[in-house]
Amino acid sequence: METHIDQIKAEAVDELKAADDIEQIKSLSVKYLGRKGLVTLFLRNISQLPPDQRPAAGKQANIVKKALESAFETALAEISARKTDTGSDALDVSLPGRPACQGTLHPITHITRQICAIFGRMGFDIAEGPEIETDYYNFEALNIPKNHPARDMQDTFYVSDNIVLRTHTSPIQVHVMEQNAPPIRIVAPGKVYRCDSDLTHTPMFHQVEGLLVDEKVSFGDLKGVLQAFVHEIFDEQISLRFRPSFFPFTEPSAEVDILCVMCRGKGCKVCSNTGWLEVLGCGMVHPAVFENVGYDTSRFQGFAFGMGVERLAMLKYGINDLRMFFESDYRFLRQF
Ligand code: PHE
Repeated sequence: METHIDQIKAEAVDELKAADDIEQIKSLSVKYLGRKGLVTLFLRNISQLPPDQRPAAGKQANIVKKALESAFETALAEISARKTDTGSDALDVSLPGRPACQGTLHPITHITRQICAIFGRMGFDIAEGPEIETDYYNFEALNIPKNHPARDMQDTFYVSDNIVLRTHTSPIQVHVMEQNAPPIRIVAPGKVYRCDSDLTHTPMFHQVEGLLVDEKVSFGDLKGVLQAFVHEIFDEQISLRFRPSFFPFTEPSAEVDILCVMCRGKGCKVCSNTGWLEVLGCGMVHPAVFENVGYDTSRFQGFAFGMGVERLAMLKYGINDLRMFFESDYRFLRQF
């Protein structure tokens, strides 16, 4: 009997070697291991052997059964692997891999860094401040008292009566001056919030604030610094003009226009045919602000400016839709 089971095994192995498709292997599996398979029948018939032969025969038959089970399994796995290798949708392992997607800097981050680097070369440090501010830092210390009409210029998100989302980066001026004595030379980039949302306004946008305080600072210094900045970020051909304006925390105040970077002054859609584009607000620090931080107004003067980063980015990169910055469209973002 033992030799009989070994014979069955030898035949099965031979037949398996000759088999080269899945169907053949499956039917061999049935022939040997199925309910009426040769190995199964052998096992079933062991009870008819003389008692002293039964244990050895059973043991051997089980070994054969296990061996054949795993041989069929391996053969099936090999054949299906070979099939995918040569089929029409085969995996070609010699092809170069798909490159992993790499992120890029957001255009706003990119231009903010450029702005800070330009002022950095003029000796300005970088300062930061909280996005959630008290009424004092966002308004009061900047000479904007409660009920002052200037508060209407900035539609404010109130967290509570006394706490706001900062509407501009100017409160950073106050923090910096409270913590440092002059001379001061900083730029402060950051997010600001205004309750405003349409084609050209988003409730969150970015500004870069500038502040310089020293002895003998004049409006001429302010003009020189801003002109150097505009020439660097755009080009030398872009001229500036200062238009008288009003901010409670600067006196005198001005709004700065640059020659339209699209039409170079000829007049186009971007500049509404004026040839000029408004890019920032600025002025000489108001003595009331200096008093609020305890600076000696008879000794120190300063200038401050604030610019909108999205606006500069749109002009620099020729983007005409503000919403592009906030849609996270990879096709747009990867261009920077
Ligand atoms: N904070 C002003 C604004 O958001 C800009 C500004 C900054 C003006 C500094 C003058 C000086 O509109």
